[in-house]
Amino acid sequence: MQFQKAELVISAASKVQWPQTELPEIVLAGRSNVGKSSLINALTGRKKLAYVGNTPGKTRLLNFFNLDDQYMFVDVPGYGYANISKQQLIRFGEMMEDYFNERMQKRGLLLIVDARHKPTEDDLTMIDFVRYYDLPVVVAATKYDKVKPSQRQHNLKVIKETLCLRDEEKLIPFSAETKLGVDEVWDALLEMLH
Ligand code: GTP
Ligand code: MG
Repeated sequence: MQFQKAELVISAASKVQWPQTELPEIVLAGRSNVGKSSLINALTGRKKLAYVGNTPGKTRLLNFFNLDDQYMFVDVPGYGYANISKQQLIRFGEMMEDYFNERMQKRGLLLIVDARHKPTEDDLTMIDFVRYYDLPVVVAATKYDKVKPSQRQHNLKVIKETLCLRDEEKLIPFSAETKLGVDEVWDALLEMLH
């Protein structure tokens, strides 16, 4: 989808900084370095809306992206970063609890996993956390271009089973490189947003 306006409103360290809008929001989460920023850029047709870096785990705040004053993407910091301290882990949990308890305009989660690997405990924790709030979930298996065609069905099956995906929780092969899955992810997001 092409937007006239797609901009980072704020990188919020705490809830007092959350934007005061009522636009429906999609939360985007995934492990550090999974390809989340690249996915956001591919979905919004931008080259560098979301920072794409080489150092994993740089993004530590909730990033709110305004898309044409219609929707908001909330980019959650990548988790599962090896060097995270216990203190940071607690702060991350509190930040997510604040968001899901208090943000009325939340509409669902786009969980991003790596199509090459089995999802981690952290991925399962995140998806279960959101299920607890009765929010819909869509999973994008990104870097799909890096999976050998002969491996693809198997990998999707492993992801589906590891995350215990329900029938209504879509798993969509994605590639920021080839733009595979961009339309399908948008269809799923629009369903949550409307
Ligand atoms: P952090 O915010 O640092 O945790 O990372 P991130 O999850 O935002 O990942 P990012 O988009 O920065 O991508 C990490 C690396 O993976 C970069 O080198 C990207 O170019 C690469 N990458 C991301 N998506 C794809 C993809 O679909 N295919 C391929 N081949 N590479 C990708
Ligand atoms: Mg990023």
